[in-house]
Amino acid sequence: MAQESSKFTDNPNVEHRRAPRRLGVLTSGGDAPGMNAAIRAVVRTSYLRNIDVIGIRRGYNGLIHGDLFKMGPNDVNGIITKGGTMLYTARSPEFQTRQGIERAADTCNFHGLDALVVIGGDGSFRGAMELTDVLAEMGSTLSVVGIPGSIDNDIACTNYTIGFDSAANTCIQAIDKLQDTMQSHERCSVVEVMGHKTGHLAVYVGIAVGATVILAPEKEFDFEQQVLENLRSAKILGREHSIVIVAEGVGKTQEIAERIHKELGMDTRVTILGHVQRGGSPTARDRVMASRMGEHAVELLCAGRKNRLVVTQDGAVVDIDIAEGTAMTKSLQPEMYRTARVLSLS
Ligand code: F6P
Repeated sequence: MAQESSKFTDNPNVEHRRAPRRLGVLTSGGDAPGMNAAIRAVVRTSYLRNIDVIGIRRGYNGLIHGDLFKMGPNDVNGIITKGGTMLYTARSPEFQTRQGIERAADTCNFHGLDALVVIGGDGSFRGAMELTDVLAEMGSTLSVVGIPGSIDNDIACTNYTIGFDSAANTCIQAIDKLQDTMQSHERCSVVEVMGHKTGHLAVYVGIAVGATVILAPEKEFDFEQQVLENLRSAKILGREHSIVIVAEGVGKTQEIAERIHKELGMDTRVTILGHVQRGGSPTARDRVMASRMGEHAVELLCAGRKNRLVVTQDGAVVDIDIAEGTAMTKSLQPEMYRTARVLSLS
């Protein structure tokens, strides 16, 4: 279970005995709008706490290859409005090898890093734990805190991941536009959204655009009942056009569209939203959540906490042990899925 946040002091000028001296910050895995706001919060909070911040470029690749630079508050001016990540990001196959982790550990030692904030997904957090293990074997200590960043909202221990809200809004804007043209031609629009192996984004977006069908990889579906029958009912109810949302993890989006055309004679069009979903200026929700999480991460380290993940529970920013958090698995929120089903049936 997540724990309430540590009792931080209210006075930001108080220097903490256990505060780190040199904190590294990196973004890893797929970028997500709001990551910049989290970086900014880490840098600004650290500055107030007299902690040196070292930016690490390109995720763990930056640690392996020594691509580091000192960051001050001015380096993060204006980035809160920007999508992407100013630190760049990568999925690092090299860091999945023992040799790669050892090289990253050497870099931590060389630069005197005693804390690391990792903004990314489950895989990035597991990588951070392996790094601390290797450093421990070398006799060094690195306090790690993870901040969940992913448009997929697929990290089990947190209700919310940075970037989800922006991506959902990007999808909604695009699909609203599609609805105009689909309505004019009385067509059926089959839209694939991201989400990796999960359907959190698909279900959320599907509800928001009033989709007739929502398909998520976590839920097996009967094509006749859940796709064809829903589309037939929508037609009988007088809907001029329909939206079918397919999570990328379901796959076969083109085949689904072709089968709808074949079985119902509907004119279908496929739209794969793709990487557009990952870009754009973050929404207010992502900016604020990322800012709160970034500040919380540094305050945890100042309080002497290590190996924690910053998470949200019912809107509150709290934290959980990193090993416990990454071992959890996430299923679709039943109430969300129920709403999606109920509304698409009517
Ligand atoms: O995890 C974020 C995400 O956008 C997933 O939704 C998608 O499956 C994947 O990353 C795409 O990865 P890449 O940008 O490496 O193609």
